[in-house]
Amino acid sequence: MKKGGFLRAFFFFYLREAIAATPLAATPDPLPATISNSGDKLKGRCWTNRCATEDVLSAFEAAIADGVDIISVSVGSPAAEDLFQNPFSIGSFHAMQNGILTVQSAANQGPMPQTISSVVPWILSVAASTKNPDLISSIKLGNGIVVNGVSVNPFTLHGMYPLIYAGDVPNVMAGFNGSVSRFCSPNSLDKNLVKGKIILCDAVSSGETEMMAGAVGSIMKYPGPYFDAVASYTLPVSVVNSDQAIRIARYIKSTRNATAVIMKSKDVKNASAPFVASFTSRGPNPITKSILKVIHVVLGIIN
Ligand SMILES: *[C@@H]1O[C@H](CO)[C@@H](O)[C@H](O)[C@H]1NC(C)=O
Ligand SMILES: *[C@@H]1O[C@H](CO)[C@@H](O)[C@H](O)[C@H]1NC(C)=O
Ligand SMILES: *[C@@H]1O[C@H](CO)[C@@H](O)[C@H](O)[C@H]1NC(C)=O
Repeated sequence: MKKGGFLRAFFFFYLREAIAATPLAATPDPLPATISNSGDKLKGRCWTNRCATEDVLSAFEAAIADGVDIISVSVGSPAAEDLFQNPFSIGSFHAMQNGILTVQSAANQGPMPQTISSVVPWILSVAASTKNPDLISSIKLGNGIVVNGVSVNPFTLHGMYPLIYAGDVPNVMAGFNGSVSRFCSPNSLDKNLVKGKIILCDAVSSGETEMMAGAVGSIMKYPGPYFDAVASYTLPVSVVNSDQAIRIARYIKSTRNATAVIMKSKDVKNASAPFVASFTSRGPNPITKSILKVIHVVLGIIN
C-alpha cells in the first residue's frame, strides 16, 4: 500500500508501533539518541536520552514494507557514529535499496564544527533555520517599559499582574532555596507566593513548573544574546535575553509593587532572516572526512 509523500510524522509513527510491539526488558543495548520533535508515546523508551536499536531498525523495516515514498526522521544520535553501528545509517541504507529517500535532522548540537550526527551520504540531512517574521511577545512593565521577548504566545491577558522573581519565591517546605527556584526547577516554587502572578525565571523550560504553581505567565531568561528556538507553551510565556532579563530584574527590585503583562505574539519582519539556527549541528563530517556532507536548509522550519 502506497501511503503517499507524507513527512516527518512517518518515522515517529513507525517507531511508536515498534516500541509498542517490544517490551522494554528486551532492550539490552539502547542507543543514545536525541529527538527534536514531540512524540509523547516515545517518552521513557525513546525520548530525551535513548532509543532502542531494534526499535529504530524495525521502524525502518515497517516503513519500507508499507511502501512509503519518503521517510522523514527527526531523531538521531547526539554524536556521529560508525556507519556500520548506527541503526539510522543501516535502516536508511535498506530504505535506499528500496528506492526510498530518508531525510534526517542534522542534529541539534551546534554551533560548534563537526557536530553533525547524520553523516551517511544516502541520507538527505537538514538544518533548522529561523523563520521570517520573528514572533515577538512583548512584555509591558508597570513602569511603562516594553521588553520584546519571543515565543508563540496565543494567549490574551487583560490588565496588569503582580511580577515576581523566581529566586524570591522558593518552595521552602520542599527544601528548596532561591538558588534553585530561580531556574523554576520542578517543584521548586511556592504556590502561595506564585499564584496569580507573572514570574521571571533564570532559565528556559517547558513552563510546567510555573503553571503547576499557578503562575499567570512566565518570563524565561535565555543565557545568550539571541534565542532562535521559538516555541509554544501552555501558559503565556515570553523568552528574553540576558540583558532584557537584567532590566526586568532591576525593575522588580526597584519597587514594592512590580507589575507586568505578556502580550499575545505578533509577527515582526527581521531584515536579517532567514538564517541557520544556532543550535543546528555543523559539518564537516567527523566520521568519513573524504565525504563532503551537504546539509540542506529548508527555510522557515522551527518547532
Ligand atoms: C540551596 O540549595 C542547594 C541545593 O539543595 C544547596 O546546594 C545550596 O547550598 C543551598 N544554598 C543555601 C544558601 O542554602
Ligand atoms: C500595588 O498594586 C496594587 C494592585 O496590584 C494596587 O492596588 C496598590 O495601590 C499598589 N500599591 C502601590 C504602593 O503602588
Ligand atoms: C533579527 O535577528 C537578529 C539575529 O541575527 C537579531 O539579533 C535581531 O535582534 C533580530 N531583530 C528583530 C527585530 O527581532
